[in-house]
Amino acid sequence: MNQIKDFHNRIFIEDTFDLMGRLPENSVDLIVADGPYAVTTHQWDKVSGIQEYNLNLIKNFSRILKPGGSAYLFGKDDCIDFIDYRRYLNLNARLIWYQPSRLAQGRKNFTKNYDIICYFSKGKPSTFNLDDIRVPQLVELTQRLRCENVPSVKQGRFNKTKFNPKGKNPGDVWGDIKQLTYRSKELINRQYLNTIQKPERLLERIIKASSNETDTVFDAFIGTGTALKVGADLNRNIFGAEKEPALAFLASKRSKIKISQEDDFALAHKVG
Ligand SMILES: C[S@@+](CC[C@H](N)C(=O)[O-])C[C@H]1O[C@@H](n2cnc3c(N)ncnc32)[C@H](O)[C@@H]1O
Repeated sequence: MNQIKDFHNRIFIEDTFDLMGRLPENSVDLIVADGPYAVTTHQWDKVSGIQEYNLNLIKNFSRILKPGGSAYLFGKDDCIDFIDYRRYLNLNARLIWYQPSRLAQGRKNFTKNYDIICYFSKGKPSTFNLDDIRVPQLVELTQRLRCENVPSVKQGRFNKTKFNPKGKNPGDVWGDIKQLTYRSKELINRQYLNTIQKPERLLERIIKASSNETDTVFDAFIGTGTALKVGADLNRNIFGAEKEPALAFLASKRSKIKISQEDDFALAHKVG
């Protein structure tokens, strides 16, 4: 396997670094990486030095991304501090995924109410589908009309006002997409709440913004398969890595994406 199309629409039960090592250079349009944060006691979340771990991911991303391709790396506020990612990728935004409903657990400091999602690209991003991810402008009509008559708006670039009937840019603080709760219909199982399963809308915004139909999308850490499901529904050629077999099988069922060499794997590991 050395052509990217051979990886399309497959789940690989293996370490993501091993899989990336087999991918051709300059072959992926979009990478989604919701991997270890190094904050929980889960075995998969334990890494020694999250910044170095993420730098290693970023180096690999830079090799496999097409020029202009994008990568979204999830983590906590310090996840790329003091590392030299600039040699490999451009950081376009540190998106803040704000989750006000989280239980406030801290006693000695302000509770962390957000994750960050680092939006990188290899050079200038070739795709940014703003019209596909616009959100409602929460501006009353009267106020809006008043604003539209302000000279700086009327005389904006290309004589366009800043108001767009399709909605506005979602900005870099995403408070409109709620973390799942135990009541969420899309929740697969309570054991995946908070630490693993992400809301489909979150992945939908990322995939719609930074890829087009039939583009190659790589999910570096599949988990329950949220990105795979959303990507398949949006007609992207998506594939990914998950080292925990039970989750890979769950993701396959959820997304209808096949496990690569499923029969060999099931035979060797007595699963499936
Ligand atoms: C935060 S979860 C991903 C959640 C996913 N976005 C979802 O919505 O279900 C991270 C996943 O990465 C997997 N993982 C961690 N390190 C890995 C590695 N080096 N290679 C492959 N999978 C890994 C873990 O087993 C875990 O299922």
